[in-house]
Amino acid sequence: MKIDSFTVLAEQPADDAAIEALHEISFGPGRFVRAASLLREGVPQDPALSFVAKSGERLIGSVRLTPIRIGGRPAILLGPLVVVPDWKGRGAGKSLMRTSIAAAREAGHAVILLVGDEPYYGPFGFQRLQPYQITLPAPADPARVLVCPLTDDALEGLGGAAERAA
Ligand SMILES: CC(C)(COP(=O)(O)OP(=O)(O)OC[C@H]1O[C@@H](n2cnc3c(N)ncnc32)[C@H](O)[C@@H]1OP(=O)(O)O)[C@@H](O)C(=O)NCCC(=O)NCCS
Repeated sequence: MKIDSFTVLAEQPADDAAIEALHEISFGPGRFVRAASLLREGVPQDPALSFVAKSGERLIGSVRLTPIRIGGRPAILLGPLVVVPDWKGRGAGKSLMRTSIAAAREAGHAVILLVGDEPYYGPFGFQRLQPYQITLPAPADPARVLVCPLTDDALEGLGGAAERAA
């Protein structure tokens, strides 16, 4: 029987293998040298802010949020966001985004950073800053470095090096 609905759930340790397989299929081995990956290296995602989409028992999408620092301030990095090919365009990405952003806001975070396509992420509240206002540990197109403020003053004085959380 084909199941065509999905549910968004908190990520569990048992989801890890399916998520890693999905990352490999979607991004390949080059993913490990990307700027965002370097910010996550050795730092576990926040389990309270990372979610999966499941259709029945099948994992069809994932979003992970990981603590970082920007110019010394605590922040959170969103990514990877990924949906299995046969579920693309059916709302799982948007549901994962909305759920994780709401959870980050609820947890008291001020700002979310990601490296991605502004046309997709803009409607969720992500915006560009000045080019290189935030620097990353590897080259990234400044037009793809996006932040989502979660508090009124989150962007005041925001800038500097994005770094791994200690
Ligand atoms: C990007 C991705 C997570 C979106 O998830 P999804 O479940 O397919 O997206 P949704 O169904 O929630 O939303 C689909 C909408 O987003 C749009 N969209 C998808 N990718 C887009 C992109 N890169 N830029 C702009 N719009 C995009 C679709 O055109 C569609 O628009 P519509 O609602 O007006 O028809 C998914 O396509 C994916 O896994 N891509 C490969 C991995 C990837 O690139 N991840 C992002 C890394 S930054």
